[in-house]
Amino acid sequence: MRKKVVAGNWKMNMTLDEGKGLADEICQLIKQKPLKIINNSPEVIFFTPFIHLAEVADIAKDLEGVFVGAQNCYSEPSGAYTGEVSAPMIKSTGSAYVLIGHSERRSLFNEGDKMLAAKASLAIESKLNIVFCCGESLEEREKNNHFDVVRNQLQNGLFWMDEKSIANVMIAYEPVWAIGTGLTATPEQAQEMHAFIRELVGEKYGQQMAENFTILYGGSCNSKNAKQIFEQQDVDGGLIGGASLKPGEFFKIIQSF
Ligand code: PGA
Repeated sequence: MRKKVVAGNWKMNMTLDEGKGLADEICQLIKQKPLKIINNSPEVIFFTPFIHLAEVADIAKDLEGVFVGAQNCYSEPSGAYTGEVSAPMIKSTGSAYVLIGHSERRSLFNEGDKMLAAKASLAIESKLNIVFCCGESLEEREKNNHFDVVRNQLQNGLFWMDEKSIANVMIAYEPVWAIGTGLTATPEQAQEMHAFIRELVGEKYGQQMAENFTILYGGSCNSKNAKQIFEQQDVDGGLIGGASLKPGEFFKIIQSF
């Protein structure tokens, strides 16, 4: 059976104390209602800024199904790259995941497919699991290019991996026009793209891999729309930005399966 996941992307928010407080509150809610007894037991991931990783990993360490991840990593393991953080360094904090290819990284920091593939390669070598993001801009959707854009992002950034490596990856489909805008993709739009992505995974890695592959939706997902989106056959959970900063709201999303 496919893994269900609700991941919070905190982006560049929260001081150290605020972040610890946020993680602690959510973990308390989960403790009161362990994930195992929540329908379909989703895995939960906190994608925090680098400064929180070790502390939040410590807060979550005794909770089954709760993990921590970084929002980015560099493509080299160590060296003279002032200001960067590498995958082995992230791994050493107790984190299990890294987010690669978020649209904000692609557009604000000019990260292209080649760079993202190099980052993913080192993340896999460092035994981190990856959530790899893809998604089209509004202009690309309006020109009806969204399928081509997502296919190219995946083929160039991710599908160089062998079968063993891709088994440690999830894909997050995040239409850029839905991120932080309050404009969510309709459940039908999400399902259509997720089915397409699953088909691409199948063409490259075979039917069984495609069946077991977790694909998350991201973009203005909240406690009001999560259930309808997660109900779609090919949607296996969400990557949640703004709504992941409010403990009660994020916990409701976790319970939306
Ligand atoms: P949002 O962000 O939920 O605030 O739209 C999602 C994301 O960027 O991962």
